[in-house]
Amino acid sequence: MKSKILVVDDEKLMRVSLEDKLIKEGYAVTSLSNAMEGLRELQSTNFDVVITDLRLPRIDGIEFLRQIKKLSPDTVVIIMTAYGSIENAVVAMKEGAYDYATKPFPLEELTIKLKKALKHKAVIAENILLKRQVISQYGYDNMIGKSDAMKRVFEIINTVSDRDTTVLIQGESGTGKELTAGAIHYNSNRRNGPFVKLSCAALNKEILESELFGHEKGSFTGAIKMRRGRFELADGGTIFLDDVDDISLEMQVKLLRVLQEREFERVGGEETIPINVRVICATKKDLKKLVQEGRFREDLYYRLHVVTIHLPPLRERKEDIPLLANYFIKKYALLQRVTINSISQEALHVLLLYNWPGNIRELENAIEHAIAFCTSDMIMPKDLPENLREKETPSGLFSIELSTIDSLDLQDTLSDAERKLLLWAYQKTQGNQVRMSEILKIPRTTLQNKLVKYNITKTNISVTGQT
Ligand SMILES: Nc1ncnc2c1ncn2[C@@H]1O[C@H](COP(=O)(O)OP(=O)(O)OP(=O)(O)O)[C@@H](O)[C@H]1O
Ligand SMILES: [Mg+2]
Repeated sequence: MKSKILVVDDEKLMRVSLEDKLIKEGYAVTSLSNAMEGLRELQSTNFDVVITDLRLPRIDGIEFLRQIKKLSPDTVVIIMTAYGSIENAVVAMKEGAYDYATKPFPLEELTIKLKKALKHKAVIAENILLKRQVISQYGYDNMIGKSDAMKRVFEIINTVSDRDTTVLIQGESGTGKELTAGAIHYNSNRRNGPFVKLSCAALNKEILESELFGHEKGSFTGAIKMRRGRFELADGGTIFLDDVDDISLEMQVKLLRVLQEREFERVGGEETIPINVRVICATKKDLKKLVQEGRFREDLYYRLHVVTIHLPPLRERKEDIPLLANYFIKKYALLQRVTINSISQEALHVLLLYNWPGNIRELENAIEHAIAFCTSDMIMPKDLPENLREKETPSGLFSIELSTIDSLDLQDTLSDAERKLLLWAYQKTQGNQVRMSEILKIPRTTLQNKLVKYNITKTNISVTGQT
């Protein structure tokens, strides 16, 4: 199907020559001389791209752009501005224009911009589709994972969301504790109520107490007004207490009471306030151990631990890495308005070798970094943060710490090893196939088939820096 382009310019010569050029390039073109007619046309037809002049009679280009974004948010807009009015182009970009061309320009320049705009549009559409697929396949909105460990997490979220029980989420930094708490809230029948978060880390008793329960006016120096606490603000919804292990023993008693009695008093207050709140807590620590060490009350531990969700570290579910990487590529390519849509095998390999102490957050940051540094439409090892690449070419064959994983894909692992050995031989022999087949002790035809299978070619090797 031809892409539909709407051209709006009151300058006849410009309009006609652009229309001719675009028709020759195979687009379906409508051209008009003012924005009013343009908006009318947009009501009945779905245009892929609108190319419009900024200076137009009656409704100017910026207003036209705003109206297009309202009427047809998916339509991509390219602005044409007169020489010397770059400020207007900046305003237009802020209002959501995709690109601009400064007049006079060779028509060729505009058609290149148009091609880029159409590609951008296709990526957005693909992203929306991917997200839908991911949601339906793997569960919760923006929570991705297909490993057994994550499937178990999704099952628990599914089962407990509507049950109002207290949930304890345990996991290292960046494993998705907050995301999980949100998933529970937004999948529960409290979803239309508030979702209130509080990190208890490093809050002293006074501040924490007033944050949780609020205070009455004059209850302490500085309490100039009555203030509601997070429990009250979360009424009808969910409260998420992060780093719950950091609460002092004294405050633990108060928290236990709220959990048991579902009521509390504000600091300095007499009135007992009943609440209807679901409590979700998170910790990076092993609470049970803290109980044994006497640093966490046992009764509170049992209250919180009615349902516990363990979020596994990323290094224990590396099979989720490709899926997550692709998800973040789509996300950041869209945010940074670039058309990067894949990751090379070599770069993926770097991600799989790394051990991710910062878990998913670190992976997300790495992809964001790579998108910013990537110069083609595919992420290469050179685009990734340097600290990940240090592990890029391990001297040994396997770099999997078997004691830390639950399962592994044998076929993938063997292919991985085979590929690595082929690269090793390639490097050793500078790609000399006779020598390669000698040192690998395989017939030349088998070697050639494998080189094709793993896409190991001279250009590939030098491009990806894997030599
Ligand atoms: N399963 C997942 N799928 C997609 N994105 C995820 C997933 N888990 C975490 N993330 C993303 O990783 C980042 C960190 O997640 P989150 O803040 O929930 O982790 P956390 O465990 O609360 O971290 P911290 O311990 O540092 O507070 C967020 O940007 C989140 O969107
Ligand atoms: Mg968190």
